[in-house]
Amino acid sequence: MSATVVVGCQFGDEGKGKVIDFLAANADVVVRFQGGANAGHTVQVGDALYAFHLLPSGVLRKRTMNVIGNGVVVDPAQLLKEIDETRARGHPVTNLRISDRAHIVMPYHKVLDGLEEKLKGGLGAGTTLRGIGPAFEDKVGRFGIRMCDLIDPELLRAKLQAVVPIKQRLIEAYGGHERLDADALFAEHEAYGKRLAPFVIDTSAWLDSALKRRKRLLFEGAQGTHLCIDHGIYPFGTSSDCVAGAAAVGAGIGPQHLTDLIGVAKAFTSRVGAGPFPTELDGPMAEHLRERGGGEYGTTTRRPRRVGWLDLVMLRMAVRVNGLTRLAVTKLDVLGGLDRIRVCVGYRHDGGVLKEFPASMRVLSEAKPVYREFKGWPDLPEPEWIGIAGRGRRALPESTQRYVAFIESQLHVPVRILSVGRSRAATMGR
Ligand code: IMP
Ligand code: MG
Repeated sequence: MSATVVVGCQFGDEGKGKVIDFLAANADVVVRFQGGANAGHTVQVGDALYAFHLLPSGVLRKRTMNVIGNGVVVDPAQLLKEIDETRARGHPVTNLRISDRAHIVMPYHKVLDGLEEKLKGGLGAGTTLRGIGPAFEDKVGRFGIRMCDLIDPELLRAKLQAVVPIKQRLIEAYGGHERLDADALFAEHEAYGKRLAPFVIDTSAWLDSALKRRKRLLFEGAQGTHLCIDHGIYPFGTSSDCVAGAAAVGAGIGPQHLTDLIGVAKAFTSRVGAGPFPTELDGPMAEHLRERGGGEYGTTTRRPRRVGWLDLVMLRMAVRVNGLTRLAVTKLDVLGGLDRIRVCVGYRHDGGVLKEFPASMRVLSEAKPVYREFKGWPDLPEPEWIGIAGRGRRALPESTQRYVAFIESQLHVPVRILSVGRSRAATMGR
């Protein structure tokens, strides 16, 4: 019995949705285990493009079950919207289960997210304003409302009566003017609970029995290692643990099942939000990557992503904290058409060279990348690339192969999946 975990190695937006979709063909169950509607996973099927925030990416596959684990914070209005939209496009979405222990993102969490961001000034992460941080604050502070409360009107009313006045005082203390109405919140959320109740189960017990029936589990990470609340660029990351170990905690299964640990890295680096970014580019080169990337605008917020060269210091840390057993490298096509390509192999700082990613944001902002330069590869339009699916990496230009081999030699982890375009056919792997 084993499970595959897919996590991001960078700042999120590595193309995990595509890799998950590729692997989901061989999975019986896809599980989300952390984060919330701050995530944006893009899946392209034929000409149709789907952007999921809460629905696990296996939801378009009829025979695949999809689980939202206890580690996810669920915005019920957003989830219902995604279910409705996906149904309207011809998918029944009966293949979904939600943990009764998952916490709920409430409207006051979004209000507080905005207020906290403003008050934080230079410490603000540039959040997605989806209420993620305040929802996790409430989970840890034990003010949270869980899925099992949402579907139990009596509990829901009692919790709201206790919590709403506290949140009202907090909003006022933060200088906000929003008025919360506990009765209105109850009415709205009781209705959400009614609609979601058929999906709500003890997903930990369900996954345990799935493992015993030798079902193949695929854990879908959101955000990325360097946004992780423990291992990321604090305080500019997100509020949940984004590393592979979080899959056990956020789904309620034993860690011994997590044996196939895949890290997804795009062939360069991008970032939505604030914080130091050593290999960041500006000017025409940044424009090239952003425009070529097409999707280099946040899936959730549509903000233009900050872009830079690939950073192996970041990836080295991702390999270590996730225990990665294989890598997926995405968006190699975006680098097409450049003469020279650079890769950061260390940071110059204080007269020495750092090989490990620093904890201190002061050190990180002072760090100057040490680059290795590579010959670029030609810019090929996507249709010509599609033929490579199944043919393996020897179908790629030699300079692209050298780039990938260099990544492997530096990280000591095999690159097993490559992606060179948006469509399903543009992903190859073993
Ligand atoms: P939050 O998760 O909305 O609290 O945002 C915290 C930081 O993480 C911000 O800088 C966001 O831009 C970033 N972030 C959160 N989720 C994602 C994601 O799925 N992809 C990329 N960045 C994200
Ligand atoms: Mg994304």
